Amino acid sequence: MSQNGESQTLTAFDPQVYRKDFPVLNREVYGKPLVYLDNAASSQMPVQVMEAWKSYHESYHSNVHRGVHALSQQATDAYEGAREKIRDHINAGSEKEIVYTSGTTDSINLVAYTYGNQHISEGDEVIISHMEHHSNIVPWKRLCDEKGAILKVIPINDAGELDLQAYREMLSDRTKLIGIVHVSNALGTINPVKEMVAEAHKYDIPVLVDGAQAMPHTRVDVQDLDCDFYAFSSHKFYGPTGFGVLYGKMDLLEQMQPFRGGGEMILSVSFDEIIYNKVPYKFEAGTPSIANAIATGAAIDYLNKVGIDRIAAYEHELLKYGTQKLKEIDGLKLIGTAENKASVLSFVLDGIHPHDIGTVLDQEGLAIRTGHHCAQPVMERYGIPATSRASFAFYNTKEEIDKLAEGIHKVIELFS
Ligand code: ALA
Repeated sequence: MSQNGESQTLTAFDPQVYRKDFPVLNREVYGKPLVYLDNAASSQMPVQVMEAWKSYHESYHSNVHRGVHALSQQATDAYEGAREKIRDHINAGSEKEIVYTSGTTDSINLVAYTYGNQHISEGDEVIISHMEHHSNIVPWKRLCDEKGAILKVIPINDAGELDLQAYREMLSDRTKLIGIVHVSNALGTINPVKEMVAEAHKYDIPVLVDGAQAMPHTRVDVQDLDCDFYAFSSHKFYGPTGFGVLYGKMDLLEQMQPFRGGGEMILSVSFDEIIYNKVPYKFEAGTPSIANAIATGAAIDYLNKVGIDRIAAYEHELLKYGTQKLKEIDGLKLIGTAENKASVLSFVLDGIHPHDIGTVLDQEGLAIRTGHHCAQPVMERYGIPATSRASFAFYNTKEEIDKLAEGIHKVIELFS
């Protein structure tokens, strides 16, 4: 039995069992069945999550932590219950370490504007990697520019793997924080976060992990990783948009200044003095996104029902199958071929612009993402403006990958 009660064994995984929970997967686009392969941008939502959201609005919509009346108490229980579900799922030591935010970007900005502002000064160094999403670059670049600190970047090899030797050599007493992506949205690379955290801790350097793309694909155990912060968004793992989490170790959260000021985050206010609320409420100013928190709790329930280890194993099979299929296509080059990879197939086609690929595939009912995927330094590293990216979820099938390959052949015929 796992940390979150998951008891399924790795028996044969049948995506059809779960597809019926996702009504959108039954729709057609331009008269063709939808093949949704843009899960890294946003995954689809099962009816169980929609139900939780709807039920809050239909039966107990009310503000939280504020009322003695029944509705408010029910809303507060469901809202705080979701925090406990999230805590359990990522194996945090306390639900107080689960800060509700509007998403990964918000979580990272929170750390940059609080911990970063308090601890980073002129001449200090912040380390990130060449494969970060813009949301784990921009806050640190801005902070470093403001403070006169130095942003150092861990290089990547041609396969899209971090140069860990270069990383080790970068670490020093000047390093004040490391921001590293767990799973790259543009390349699919799974980084050895646990080992990297251990190296950083030899110098007492805190590590923030961008877990946006890891949460849907792999088991996340923040105590095992021993990371200091872990940021993620609900809509990447079958929950709603506009909601996310910052996990932070208690001692760090306690010493951090609040990010935003307002209601909820205070214990008392006078014109002379403000006493802040305790962690995590100190960081949760204003009426929160109650329905989305409750729906995120339902998304965690859903993940546990399917089983994150079964999801990881099945998606690995899909990735292997898709990689082989795409490798057979003349003129196609995969961008991101790391040994340890999750559910992403980024590729370029000789002489055909990714936007043209995306447009033709769209006409076939295939939804993929084209562009720089908010990771322009990755594109610059490979000397390309953009890629086409198919990204899988556990509800995708081998037949859908066959359709992707057929669609790509069609693109090649059209443009040759
Ligand atoms: N970061 C999201 C993506 O990779 C939006 O598509």
